[in-house]
Amino acid sequence: MKKILAMIEEELKSAFTACGYEERFAKAVLSNRPDLCEYQCNGAMAAAKAYKKKPIDIANEVVEKLREGHMFSMCDAVMPGFINLKLEGGFAADYMNQMAADERLGLEKAENPLTIVVDYGGANVAKPLHVGHLRSAVIGESVKRMGRALGHNMIGDVHLGDWGLQMGLIIEELRDRKPELPYFDESFTGEYPAEAPFTISELEDIYPTASKKAKFKAEDARKDGVSEEEIAKLEAASKAFAERAHQATRRLQEGYAPFTAIWHHIMNVSKADLKKNYGNLNVDFDLWKGESDAQAYIPALIQNLIDQGLAYESQGALVVDIAEPTDSKELPPCIVRKSDGAALYATSDLGTIIEREKDFHPDAYIYIADKRQELHFTQVFRVAKKAGFVKPDMSMSFLGFGTMNGKDGKPFKTRDGGVMRLEHLIADIDEAVYQRIMENRTVSEDEAKETAKVVGLAALKYGDLSNQAAKDYIFDIDRFISFEGNTGPYNLYTIVRIKSILNKYQEAGQTLENLTILPAASEAEKALMLEIAKYNDVLETAFAEKAPHKICQYIYDLSNDFNRFYHDTKILSEENREQQKSWIGLIRLAKDVLNACIQVLGFEAPERM
Ligand code: ARG
Repeated sequence: MKKILAMIEEELKSAFTACGYEERFAKAVLSNRPDLCEYQCNGAMAAAKAYKKKPIDIANEVVEKLREGHMFSMCDAVMPGFINLKLEGGFAADYMNQMAADERLGLEKAENPLTIVVDYGGANVAKPLHVGHLRSAVIGESVKRMGRALGHNMIGDVHLGDWGLQMGLIIEELRDRKPELPYFDESFTGEYPAEAPFTISELEDIYPTASKKAKFKAEDARKDGVSEEEIAKLEAASKAFAERAHQATRRLQEGYAPFTAIWHHIMNVSKADLKKNYGNLNVDFDLWKGESDAQAYIPALIQNLIDQGLAYESQGALVVDIAEPTDSKELPPCIVRKSDGAALYATSDLGTIIEREKDFHPDAYIYIADKRQELHFTQVFRVAKKAGFVKPDMSMSFLGFGTMNGKDGKPFKTRDGGVMRLEHLIADIDEAVYQRIMENRTVSEDEAKETAKVVGLAALKYGDLSNQAAKDYIFDIDRFISFEGNTGPYNLYTIVRIKSILNKYQEAGQTLENLTILPAASEAEKALMLEIAKYNDVLETAFAEKAPHKICQYIYDLSNDFNRFYHDTKILSEENREQQKSWIGLIRLAKDVLNACIQVLGFEAPERM
């Protein structure tokens, strides 16, 4: 469906041109004085300069013309030359009826659907998901769903960190724990076991232990009163272990069969767990690829960069200059190979781009990661374009997000100062919501548990998405789970409330068929209609700007408008049947729009709460 603002603009255009003014002045915007009007046009002021007339005279002429049409119930010219507009009630009602009749609620599909790769999630295999990965998953899922709702071919890739030193650390820690395993027997020639030599909980213990082992801190030991002699010993052991881990990583990367077998086990066990965790977040990926998949492309891409004269040696490393004359600050070259010959994070991302080009020929790329990775992505995008791995005008965007902080304003930690694991965070929220639901004691414990999960996820996601992504925000569980204010639960509560009215209406023997929406009977009803009408506009803008917070703001406004309307309208006791049907139709439409929005944000509403 055409957007309301576009329709108004068309009407304005014909009025402007009929009065002899260029149509470029006929711009319609939402009113910034809702007490006076619903929409406005400020074009007479600009036209005044071009035509050397008084703005108010132009506004008056245009208004005269507009009054000949049927779109507005009010059009006024006000000093110095504003055109204030109110939509005709029948027109607004008509728009509602069209939205209600359209299964896409008036949202148009993109004329030219694009293939867009969304790189988000970015979990690191064998390391537990922590809150740092939460934002990438939550924001990325929403961006992907927005694009999909608009008809684009969105390809979500989790892009696992599955090729780094953590693999060598795990292998060596496993050797220390279970030296009898065939993977560590150099003379073993049989087939390696199909079953993994660890469970997920062991794996989750193996990595942090190994990581600590490799990073012995003499200072900490000193504080604990460990003798210097002992410290020297521990330090040497730590160094030796770290060296083994590096070596194991190198051997794995060279394709050493026993380590490759372990790697597959790590991947399988870890992926199964990640799928479960992402699933709990209502996040799912089309592709479960990772940095390891890029490795096959790296030798050729490095050669290519050398052959094109783009890569050169600098202090033993191989680098590509990416600075451009228009840069406001100096950007360092992109290192594509370290002096020891190892590839890096950037090289992996370049290899991944080559693979994606080959597999999907995308029209655009969107990466969602911590904003501290901005330089990395600038470097990668520039090298990819310079080298021709993608076309020079490829749309490559980086959506960098800020940090989730605790109430103390510092990065969110557990009570004892550790990194909070995502599943614990989710469990905490669910528990808090459960307590809140049980306070009312209207549902059974089992239902409350299920509802708490649904509401908890909404609280968590909305708490995150309602902030502009690039900003840091404070994780405030009490605020997030509140049923009042700008929160996930408040919006869900609105949906649940509408569902309950619709149920009661049906229980009274009425059906939800042929619900023709009539012109608004009150200011509050009109405001609700105009808010509903913004849906297609909001979704398109939010996607174009990759700004889920705009959808959050919209559903909050819409919920408020519904609640204001509902507050002074007695729907269920209304005796005029046609009027009642109209209201039922309108609130059902409000619910459908809210539902479509939360679906795009990646959460759902329960039946009751
Ligand atoms: N695994 C990375 C991390 O934990 C994030 C990956 C982001 N995506 C990318 N293509 N580099 O920091």
